[in-house]
Amino acid sequence: MSAEATTIPVRIRTLEGPVSQLRLLRTVLRNPLEAMPASVFSQPIARRRFMRRDLLYSCDPELIRQVLVEQEASFVKADAMRRALVPALGQGLLTAEGAHWRWQRRAAAPIFRHDRLLGFVPAMIQAAQATVQRWTAPEARSTRVDMLHEMMQTTYNVIVETMLSGAPGLDQGRIERGVAEYLEATPWAVMTSLFGIPGWVPHPKKRQGRAARDYVREALIGIVQRRRQTGSDTSANKAVQGDLLALLLQAQDPETGQVMNDRELADNLLTFIVAGHETTALTLSWSFYLLARHPKIEALVLAEIAQVTGGDALRPDHVPELAYTRQVIQETMRLYPPAALVTRMAATDVQLGSLTVAAGTPTYVPVYAVHRHLSLWDNPDAFDPERFRPEAVKARHRYAYLPFGAGPRICIGASFAMLEAVAILTTVLRSVRPSLPPGFEPSPRLRITLRPHGGLPMQLTPRPGAA
Ligand code: HEM
Repeated sequence: MSAEATTIPVRIRTLEGPVSQLRLLRTVLRNPLEAMPASVFSQPIARRRFMRRDLLYSCDPELIRQVLVEQEASFVKADAMRRALVPALGQGLLTAEGAHWRWQRRAAAPIFRHDRLLGFVPAMIQAAQATVQRWTAPEARSTRVDMLHEMMQTTYNVIVETMLSGAPGLDQGRIERGVAEYLEATPWAVMTSLFGIPGWVPHPKKRQGRAARDYVREALIGIVQRRRQTGSDTSANKAVQGDLLALLLQAQDPETGQVMNDRELADNLLTFIVAGHETTALTLSWSFYLLARHPKIEALVLAEIAQVTGGDALRPDHVPELAYTRQVIQETMRLYPPAALVTRMAATDVQLGSLTVAAGTPTYVPVYAVHRHLSLWDNPDAFDPERFRPEAVKARHRYAYLPFGAGPRICIGASFAMLEAVAILTTVLRSVRPSLPPGFEPSPRLRITLRPHGGLPMQLTPRPGAA
């Protein structure tokens, strides 16, 4: 392990000892991760008693395998998560269950085949170059940016370019603000679920983000309708013929013979836009934070980039060669997994190890805690990309590290995200050096995803000689 790995980047604090229900309630609203019992970092299974019900946290890789893989049919997505996401995403791929999920997954799968993914890398490099050009242009007004906002914009451009052949007419700024506002309100949806309050009951933040959701849904329905009129099969544009919307327009449920209506198509497009750009933008933002705090590791990344590219412009075939840079991304997602809490609920009574889990019990995989578990990692809070050397990965339990989830519901965009994160990190890092304002530490908060609360201010210094 490098000497630098001893400086500990920011981490969340859980509640210690016996906690009153009122304190727990306030903590869930502030940051649901802080409401985990401290034992999630040391025990195979942890419990939190909340409002007369048990919340279970599976932290042992074998138990995780049971929940997400072996007995996955006995666990459905948790009620709290559905309440938070279904109003925005409908019954799209992320939120659907059973046969309805299965056929949607099969319909979208071809676009994530390896050969198709490599074809998307030029768009990833281009989007990153456009960002860097904007920063370094003579008319750029400031060298200080909110890195989270910058990365949201960059990964948004990638997702609409690759999945929707550009999707003209969608306002990125409005979508970004809408997603942030919507997610900010989600702890209230979680809370009403934990209290057993019916979903229709109003809560203080229910309207928040809805206007943005309605705007995006309308805009996406417009895109679907225009595409139906032009006809994806007859389009002269080759990219449009094979994009995600074209695939979904042709898809047919094998059991019912049904095709998706405009609303279902729009729900899926929104699912892919949100799931496909927000998480990668967070990964990149946390990576820049960690590299700014660990200049020696940043120097190793730069040395690898120089060696692989030979000083030339980054080409798509360089990206899979950047092994150490990929390790940096993997280690970032260990410390700050965008999907920090994967949530399920027992659909029936289930045996989990020696424990009988009653139907309806929220059963969480606390990815954030598993990735820092004392029995799985040495010096778990330290940033050390060496943990992802191939030999080290082989020696570890498969379910000790799961930023993309596991089992049939594993992230469909995992390989896409890895290529994209490496391509963007490389393009940015060789052109500018992002650093943190003196004394600044971000505050990680769970809002479905693990976000730096209030953004991530960074100072950009152009690198001498960068093209
Ligand atoms: C670093 C980036 C990403 C992370 C950390 C991430 C993480 C995850 C996780 C943990 C799940 C499983 C959730 C569960 O089991 O409840 C998931 C599902 C999903 N992700 Fe990702 N994701 C990322 C990028 C992407 C990208 C780039 C796309 C699309 C291009 C995408 C689309 C989806 C979709 C559609 C699902 C639902 C899959 C299903 O249920 O069949 N994600 N993601």
